[in-house]
Amino acid sequence: MKGILLAGGTGSRLYPLTQVASKQLQPVYDKPMVYYPLTVLIASGIREFCLISTPHDLPRFRQLLGDGSHWGISIVYREQARPDGIAQALIIAADFIGQDPVALMLGDNLFFGGDAFPRAIADFRSGATVFAYHVNDPERYGVVEFDAEGNAVSLEEKPADPRSNYAVPGVYLYDNDVIEIARSLKPSARGELEITDVNKEYLRRGTLRVQRLSRGTAWLDAGTSTSLHEASAYVQTIEKRQGMKLGCPEEAALYRGFLTIDQFETLASSLPPCEYRDYLTELAVEVRRVGLKSA
Ligand code: DAU
Repeated sequence: MKGILLAGGTGSRLYPLTQVASKQLQPVYDKPMVYYPLTVLIASGIREFCLISTPHDLPRFRQLLGDGSHWGISIVYREQARPDGIAQALIIAADFIGQDPVALMLGDNLFFGGDAFPRAIADFRSGATVFAYHVNDPERYGVVEFDAEGNAVSLEEKPADPRSNYAVPGVYLYDNDVIEIARSLKPSARGELEITDVNKEYLRRGTLRVQRLSRGTAWLDAGTSTSLHEASAYVQTIEKRQGMKLGCPEEAALYRGFLTIDQFETLASSLPPCEYRDYLTELAVEVRRVGLKSA
């Protein structure tokens, strides 16, 4: 499965932070925001990525992530000229997707804990898999309604009167039909190609799987300065307690076997002296001592 990271948009709610660096480049505690979704996908075994952003921000992402080879992955870049909708990413990246299935992930969605994504990606065969997460404020999201048997029966984008408390987070797994589905979409009332319309089409075809994320998974929002700060505080709290980093692509690549321990050590020693380098260096020592113990 290939991976698309969508990291465009205006980031207007974070202005003036986003005047020179886009939302997905903002720090979430000790790393740029985009590291977190990228790590989720690497930890799920995805190795080929396409990052989509604005013409203005794309050079910064290239500077940050390069071609991915230092992490044992590949990253190509595509421009989205205007924020015409999340589903447009699937059209922009059609040549990258080729004949493969694809995981589309929003660059501002932060997930911690649980193994729902690696499992769903390993189990994925056809159709679409999306997720459902119980929230307090479903009207801000795509909302899925379930029947008494737990089957998804409706999907709505930001409904004024939500039919459930289950929001659909920004991770979507699709088979190759998604390219044709995205191409056939019409812009919504707000002028966007809506990802919810893609999911509704899979629901109509009877090939949509909606997997509920357990309460052990934390899905955090970082769309306002308050929620960005809270996400940083969350990461700091967990990292301080555990002595392990969240959202560390190098570590995920090592555990997935995309980097050998030798390559990992070389990478760590190429970083300037900093806390992040110390972490990678200590991790390498531990892996040499006790082997790989994924957590
Ligand atoms: O976070 C999950 C939610 O994401 C879903 O529940 C909704 O169904 C989905 O529509 C989306 O809602 P948002 O209101 O969060 O969408 P927003 O327009 O804020 O875009 C989400 C991210 O995607 C944001 O970081 C910017 C980026 N984006 C968005 C659009 C519309 C792009 O890169 N290009 C775009 O054209």
